[in-house]
Amino acid sequence: MAGVAVSTTINGDAVEYLCQPDETLLEVLRDRLGLTGAKEGCGTGDCGACSVIVDGRLVCSCLVLGAEAEGREVETIEGMAHGDQLHPLQQKFLEHAALQCGICTPGFLIAAKDLLAKNPSPTEEEIRFGLAGNLCRCTGYDKIVRAVQDAANVMKGA
Ligand code: FES
Ligand code: FES
Repeated sequence: MAGVAVSTTINGDAVEYLCQPDETLLEVLRDRLGLTGAKEGCGTGDCGACSVIVDGRLVCSCLVLGAEAEGREVETIEGMAHGDQLHPLQQKFLEHAALQCGICTPGFLIAAKDLLAKNPSPTEEEIRFGLAGNLCRCTGYDKIVRAVQDAANVMKGA
């Protein structure tokens, strides 16, 4: 199969790659670009572990083709911290012990970032609804919800 040449922006950097027409964005990120933060939990759009933001929309990168990133702005977990400075969501996930095995965590962080960008003061119900596409088999969700609430308060005060 002929490769597809893609020019895109990932975490603010111009990136070019060649991929196969049937290769997912998740495969491109992980296997071609070494951005292994997004995880493959299911590969069918059900778990949210592969979440990234494309042109301001939260997507499952396992359901997007690598070729579809052409000309778009992609945000991944690798772009969330600024150097050693963690994003408030990352900091609060640590403080609230909102992760155990960590497989779901990058997806939750990206989904929570998207949620707070659209709704800076979500209620608990809105957080649970906003993160309903992300599955966690370890934490029971309560610590994640508290971490997002706490991060929202920090970000509003900033
Ligand atoms: S790996 Fe994409 S939603 Fe599960
Ligand atoms: S921390 Fe293990 S799946 Fe969420």
